[in-house]
Amino acid sequence: MTRRELAIGLIGSGFMGKGHALAFSLVGRVFDDLLAMPRLRLLADVDADSARRAARELGFEEASADWRELVTHPEVDIVDITTPNHLHAEMALAAIEAGKHVYCEKPLALDAATASAMTEAAEAAGVVTMVGFNYLKSPAVLAAKGLIEAGVIGAVWQFRGAFLQDVLADPQQPFGWRFERSLAGSGALGDLGAHVIALAHFLVGEVTQVCAHATTVIEERPAALGGHGYRAPAVADAPRRRVENEDAVQALLTFAGGASGVLEASRVATGRKVHLTCEVIGSRGSLAFDHERMNELQLYEAADPADRRGFRTIIMGPEHPFYGCFWPVAGCGLGLGDTKVIEVYELLQAVAQARRASPDFAEATAVQRVVDAIVASAAQRRWVATSEGAGG
Ligand SMILES: NC(=O)c1ccc[n+]([C@@H]2O[C@H](COP(=O)([O-])OP(=O)(O)OC[C@H]3O[C@@H](n4cnc5c(N)ncnc54)[C@H](O)[C@@H]3O)[C@@H](O)[C@H]2O)c1
Repeated sequence: MTRRELAIGLIGSGFMGKGHALAFSLVGRVFDDLLAMPRLRLLADVDADSARRAARELGFEEASADWRELVTHPEVDIVDITTPNHLHAEMALAAIEAGKHVYCEKPLALDAATASAMTEAAEAAGVVTMVGFNYLKSPAVLAAKGLIEAGVIGAVWQFRGAFLQDVLADPQQPFGWRFERSLAGSGALGDLGAHVIALAHFLVGEVTQVCAHATTVIEERPAALGGHGYRAPAVADAPRRRVENEDAVQALLTFAGGASGVLEASRVATGRKVHLTCEVIGSRGSLAFDHERMNELQLYEAADPADRRGFRTIIMGPEHPFYGCFWPVAGCGLGLGDTKVIEVYELLQAVAQARRASPDFAEATAVQRVVDAIVASAAQRRWVATSEGAGG
């Protein structure tokens, strides 16, 4: 099979920049039906030294300190945005205007109105879009979706989802872009809770109303001494900056199909790492997933003989979505990076086949409407419909 080539322009070389670059490097080796090979053409970072070093280490042909040069570069087919949240909209809109396909990290924008404008621009230009809700590509999550669609757990009654981390639980962790409202938007909600909302939409359906509470437990942090991301250095006596968004959020949810649910997100959950969990409770059974044990899916079937009823653990194997592209036998285990490989596979196939990718900007806008509703609900201390926002 002759594969066509799609040139990638990656913006950002931090945590996710590296994750995306590794996924593009591996995808052609994992999937033998890949229709278009990624070519790592250009990497841009505002920090010229980081751009040059990352381009060399990650295998890009060229580096640039100017993302505008990247989005208009005649050889770039797909613009991949892994910068802090406030830059997504400006970069994506410029890329769309230049006729590029766009792969963007979550949350898509700082609010639903902006996300909606990005979606409209992409649809008018006819370009493919994709957003980095990588947990949707976990084989166990995809297997859960298949079981729900097959009616194995019956009518869905309840959803419980949480994303708990302690990555920012240390008060000495310096002030970075994630704590500033104009750069990040919401805090734990947009950063972590958005993944839970994407899972809720994928497995259960659209969230229509929310009632939320949000708290900031570490109100000030030392200014960073340069650098970016989770490993930015700080000293204890550095000037303090006031944290502008929430460390933790809890919300009640109602779904269009009649189900109810709860959502929780925290970046200060001492002891929790990537504790992304969800449970879907149905009339005939229930499903449970925990990303820290991402190669397992828990299934309970009420029709089992009474003396044997209980959650069973299904270990992911080649019978489950995408797993067999990595390993021929069950139990070898995939990791978070592999979900990114599956994500870029979906993107490249969609571009090659001139079809929509999933989740795209429209799906990410629906997530953003729920984020906005939770922010409004927590501030106004009342139930808020997701249709109330400007992006509705
Ligand atoms: N899907 C996931 O699981 C996941 C995980 C982590 C982060 N994210 C998302 O990825 C995005 C980036 O997060 P991160 O943790 O990688 O951040 P980071 O701080 O580690 O990296 C951000 C990068 O963007 C660069 N940058 C900043 N301004 C720029 C500009 N004007 N032009 C070019 N480059 C610029 C920085 O120099 C840095 O290299 C965020 O939107 C975040 O929400 C997603």
